[in-house]
Amino acid sequence: MILEELVSVSRHYPMVKALSNVSLKIKSNEVLLVTGHSGSGKSTLLNMMGILDIPTKGKMKLMGKPVPTSESERAKLRSEFMGFVFQDFGLIPSITAHDNIVLPTLFGGNTPQGRAGELAEMLGITKRMHHYPRQLSGGEKQRVAIARSLINDPKILFADEPTGNLDSKTGKSVMNLLRDLADQGKAVVIVSHNPEHKEYADRVIKMKDGEII
Ligand SMILES: Nc1ncnc2c1ncn2[C@@H]1O[C@H](COP(=O)(O)OP(=O)(O)OP(=O)(O)O)[C@@H](O)[C@H]1O
Ligand SMILES: [Mg+2]
Repeated sequence: MILEELVSVSRHYPMVKALSNVSLKIKSNEVLLVTGHSGSGKSTLLNMMGILDIPTKGKMKLMGKPVPTSESERAKLRSEFMGFVFQDFGLIPSITAHDNIVLPTLFGGNTPQGRAGELAEMLGITKRMHHYPRQLSGGEKQRVAIARSLINDPKILFADEPTGNLDSKTGKSVMNLLRDLADQGKAVVIVSHNPEHKEYADRVIKMKDGEII
């Protein structure tokens, strides 16, 4: 199923064409890998797909409807349909793993009680739920971040270099996890330099100078 569609999307800054004329579809059950050199426009594209930013040109549809320009409406759509995982984990250091995971539920959504526990079990971090981020290994932190990204049961999961700060074994287990989530029906979009990630992807797109090549 097509969840999101970009049609001839561009994002131009005064001196830079960060993204030019990009068209793509994001589908459920699929891992889409976005690769390309530094400065090629990967993060700009991720910001578009994650409706964190709006195009200077082109059209975008999410769940069959045009993406609104108002930031508050987009924020609502993000919390309803999207989850985000970052290279540096993005956990809040002063609260426990559990509280990091349930944080997105404070901004709306109707997350059933006990879902944090279920996710912790699925990700193998049940025994770490009352630890603070500094007490966790890199792989555990990324699992907590993935649990947090899944707490509102998003349809699309975006991951920007999700294994960038992990050793190769831990990185592989995170990639297997993202692959499983796609197999269970989510759309997973991964931005990465790592060519080894291709084996987990259904589709690979390469960016160069703001365009898909
Ligand atoms: N806010 C901005 N203002 C001006 N130029 C920008 C802005 N954000 C990004 N750019 C430029 O757009 C181009 C694409 O940047 P982008 O961050 O998308 O690259 P990237 O592929 O994610 O790179 P990296 O692998 O280093 O993260 C770069 O030339 C960058 O300098
Ligand atoms: Mg980037």
